[in-house]
Amino acid sequence: MTPGVISTQMTPDPISLPEEFASPLTLARARLGSFAHRVLWYPEVGSTNDIAASLAERHVDEGVVVLADRQTSGRGRLGRSWASPAGAGIYASVVLRPPPAVATLLTIAAGVAVVEGIASATGLLAYVKWPNDVHVDGRKLAGILAEGAPSQVILGIGINVLPAAYPPDVAARATSIEAELGRPVDRGLVLAECLAALAMRYRELHDGGRGVIDAWRQRAAPVQGRRVEWESAGQRQIGLAENIDEDGALVVKVGAQTLRIRSGEVRWL
Ligand code: BTN
Repeated sequence: MTPGVISTQMTPDPISLPEEFASPLTLARARLGSFAHRVLWYPEVGSTNDIAASLAERHVDEGVVVLADRQTSGRGRLGRSWASPAGAGIYASVVLRPPPAVATLLTIAAGVAVVEGIASATGLLAYVKWPNDVHVDGRKLAGILAEGAPSQVILGIGINVLPAAYPPDVAARATSIEAELGRPVDRGLVLAECLAALAMRYRELHDGGRGVIDAWRQRAAPVQGRRVEWESAGQRQIGLAENIDEDGALVVKVGAQTLRIRSGEVRWL
């Protein structure tokens, strides 16, 4: 077994990290804090979140990153699949143990960090759509999937970097960094900048998370006055979004009532 590399019965052995990623991560080292001291690279996995979860069960250090070139069973929120063609995206999962008081803000922080990382690596200005989808001009560029207990979260990040042969339903709603910019981009640099931004926003969570909410408000598609639809206890509800609160919940007016939506699917109308 390679020294410094974890092997479990449930996970295949990773191979050494390609230069494409190793070099920008080394250059970003000072900004990464406890993140990405160990990056486990796989040419192909089912889901990086599964590998990271099995490592987390074995008490790996916080900040360990699982990275794959391709996922055969990549998954998104709400039971959807996440198309993960070889070499076309960033498919990464980070093991995190957030402070309990601000765990609800973790995915908000991650959405902000991905927008910031993409902007810093490529100049592309994307925005966050509540809760944490990353969009450009109404098309989805990246998504975040947080799984696990509040005390130990597997934070999965999927970013479309190259235009790829996505399934037709995905292709209609998705875009990629290269498609938007019309030029090649450095996938390793995008990862390194996203992780550096995440490390910074994660530190803010430890300081109470105020900076994360402010940053989200600057980088989010405006929610105020937007009509939004969701389901609650099997009932379809429609309301007018007002803001997000200090816990990252969407504040919605339904008639005279003010509701807070924490998770689940909302459809912007
Ligand atoms: C979404 O917007 O629905 C979330 C998509 C999250 C995709 C990433 S890719 C890396 C990690 N592994 C997975 O199986 N999913 C997440």
